[in-house]
Amino acid sequence: MTFELPKLDYVNNALSPIMSEETLELHHGKHHQTYITNLNNFIKDTDLANSSLEDIILQSSKDESKVGIFNNASQHWNHNLFWKCMKPKGGGKIPPKLEKRIIADFGSVEKFKTDFKQAGITQFGSGWCWLSKCNGKLLVTKTANAANPLIDNMQPILGCDVWEHSYYIDYRNRRPEYLDKFVENLINWEFVESLLD
Ligand code: FE2
Repeated sequence: MTFELPKLDYVNNALSPIMSEETLELHHGKHHQTYITNLNNFIKDTDLANSSLEDIILQSSKDESKVGIFNNASQHWNHNLFWKCMKPKGGGKIPPKLEKRIIADFGSVEKFKTDFKQAGITQFGSGWCWLSKCNGKLLVTKTANAANPLIDNMQPILGCDVWEHSYYIDYRNRRPEYLDKFVENLINWEFVESLLD
């Protein structure tokens, strides 16, 4: 399988000024594209050439000799989710079904938001913070570099990229401000809710 860069559901300046056109051009057009190019080169003519992206991630995660494949495959998957998790004029009220689940598992929406942002803030160096389904419950976690919760039997429904390439142009070193804006102004809650079932 040859993987391709997914088209965004919005134009590059649609998330501005929360996420600038320059950031999206580089992040989607260059960084994400590079992961895909590397992945295609890595798997060409190997036993993973015809596997699904999820299979490549799961198989390569257990094999130290396939760390390059894992990093690029996982980053491709992570970014696919990340783009879908945002929309112009996002944030705002969480749809009722998802809100109910969040309150059941975190106590309140505010507690969930604090936990999620804290996971992103405290991820040392590059990585991601997540909201995932795990054994019927919602859970906030963080991962380093390319890793994602799939390899720990969790199903992510929301992910925020805290690599510097995601925020440094717009927020410099202010990762907490970026996370705050992501949660309050970018998240496509309808999409996140659609992944609940
Ligand atoms: Fe990224």
